[in-house]
Amino acid sequence: MKFIKSIKILKDELKKLKLKGKSIGFVPTMGALHNGHLALIKEARKENDIVVVSIFVNPTQFGPNEDYLRYPRPFKEDVKKCKEAEVDYIFAPDVETMYPDDYLTFVKVEKLSDILCGAFRKNHFRGVATVVLKLFNIVKPDIAYFGLKDYQQFIIIKKMIEDLNLDIKIKGVPTVRDLDGVALSSRNTYLSKEEREEATLLYKSLLGAKDLILNGERNIKKIKKFIYKKLTSGKIIKKKNIDYISIVHPEKLEELKYIEKEAVIALAVWVGKARLIDNIKIKI
Ligand code: PAJ
Repeated sequence: MKFIKSIKILKDELKKLKLKGKSIGFVPTMGALHNGHLALIKEARKENDIVVVSIFVNPTQFGPNEDYLRYPRPFKEDVKKCKEAEVDYIFAPDVETMYPDDYLTFVKVEKLSDILCGAFRKNHFRGVATVVLKLFNIVKPDIAYFGLKDYQQFIIIKKMIEDLNLDIKIKGVPTVRDLDGVALSSRNTYLSKEEREEATLLYKSLLGAKDLILNGERNIKKIKKFIYKKLTSGKIIKKKNIDYISIVHPEKLEELKYIEKEAVIALAVWVGKARLIDNIKIKI
């Protein structure tokens, strides 16, 4: 495994491999790797000759009052995990390499970036799209792997690839959960023991809503009320902690008035200092 910080060196190396006909699978991350990230890496390992993982805590996707500075950076452990997962290249540029002082260009996928999490995290998805496009241009992967836990992010990147005619295939990988159902997230490290227990209510409420729908309930208001009640049934999550409970179209991400065939139920909830997101896809 090679560890590279320079854009030029990585580009040159990958160019040579491409010329030899090697396929490149790419997993962009912000590090603090867990089994969710590793599921993406495993998939990439299965399907490509070369696997590139980027580790870059991207400042442009964090708001001024968000957790950029305290975001976990367990670098040594990350390198070890990548080695074990047979990654070929770790790309871990410095911030100045990605965003030199005179940096000016940003990409935004309109509409999709302003709803759901985008309504609460201004400029977040603009930062995500920008860094991912930069990384795509550096790595030039054949296939890029994204987790469906960040469902909105997956849809936005998919749209960017389509709209900007990028020759990259995108693959969504199902959410990896802990035994208690909590979706793995680098931000789970912010949770105390009690908060962690409370965090199980997110997935429980999604599963409950799925059951309700599969048993015939179609009234969006009633389904949302059910989720709200379940989410607030513990001691910690209150109304003010819930950013949104949304039932949306799986591609357009628009709020549904009724459920016809498919829907995604998405949640964003503050538990202590951690803003947790989760979602579930429903097919009738
Ligand atoms: P990060 O949060 O590190 O996540 C990297 C990738 O891992 C994303 O595609 C995310 O959806 C996926 N992932 C995280 N937790 C997961 C889980 N429990 N199960 C399955 N996949 C999971 O997402 C980002 O970084 C950044 O926004 C990035 C795309 C790297 C741009 O900076």
